[in-house]
Amino acid sequence: MSEHANPLSVAAAVEAIKSLVPERLQNPRVGIVCGSGLGGIVECIRDLVLVSYGEIPGFVQSTVPGHKSSLAFGVMGPGDGVPVVAMLGRFHPYEGHHMHTVVYPIRVMAKLGITDIIITNAAGGLNPKLAVGTIVVIHDHLALPNMSGMNPLLGPLTSPEHRRFVPLSDAYSPSLRRLMFLAAHHLALEPAALAEGTYAWVSGPTYETPAEGRFLRLAGADVVGMSTVPEVLAAHQEGLNVMALSLVTNAVVIPDGYRSIREEVLAELAGKRVELPVADVVSHEEVLEIGKAKGEVMMKLVEWVVGSIPSA
Ligand code: 6GU
Repeated sequence: MSEHANPLSVAAAVEAIKSLVPERLQNPRVGIVCGSGLGGIVECIRDLVLVSYGEIPGFVQSTVPGHKSSLAFGVMGPGDGVPVVAMLGRFHPYEGHHMHTVVYPIRVMAKLGITDIIITNAAGGLNPKLAVGTIVVIHDHLALPNMSGMNPLLGPLTSPEHRRFVPLSDAYSPSLRRLMFLAAHHLALEPAALAEGTYAWVSGPTYETPAEGRFLRLAGADVVGMSTVPEVLAAHQEGLNVMALSLVTNAVVIPDGYRSIREEVLAELAGKRVELPVADVVSHEEVLEIGKAKGEVMMKLVEWVVGSIPSA
């Protein structure tokens, strides 16, 4: 387990960042968290200044391929642009990081003054209507760890400004979600390219068994992944407007039944040929590949939304 990040180090992190970033970029308005293979968003950032996680007290290194380990400061969108800070690489509980470490960068970005945050991820599709490559605007989540004593917000409050009992009926900002669908229209995307749905958060690092995939689908989830929910909870507790996006990188196969070895053997013995479906095997390489191919669409949508968020 990594070191427990304490509230003191949020201030220390802000101080370190301010010593490394030019003054006009020190007060970003929008935070962005880049998921697996989605770090290309950095290409939309002008006047780019990178701060390595190693230079920020309390930050650790992302150990996942496809994740860098830097905060990107700069501006995004038309005209003078909107000041932003993007996380190139995030921390996951499955890397062995304490939940406080996972959400710590969110608290630091909130302290830097962001009002809005856009959190992206690569996810498996549970809803058969979601083709690989679809971007899903998350409108709700299903967090099994939260229901089994592993809520990321468990523990002492780290700021007197934090609420203890955080309502989640309004966790995903309707106005940011609206902007996202307007962005898709503005960019002339096919209507099917942008969907909305419920994200199931699991701890990973194993992918789902077929039975687990069916379970999550039956419980009402459209996509499944190993991130995002901890950050959403912390961001919401910090009072930020939150939007979360999933890129569907693979279909979690939910066969009506298993490939039945019993049926195969009985058929063979009876001299019949049978061809039963064989389940797909998901890989991180496949996830990164789709991220690369579709990341640009995600990037353009995020850029449009950032440029259109009304000033507070
Ligand atoms: Cl299939 N499952 C989970 N848990 N996370 C994923 C995924 C699947 N595909 C991308 N991320």
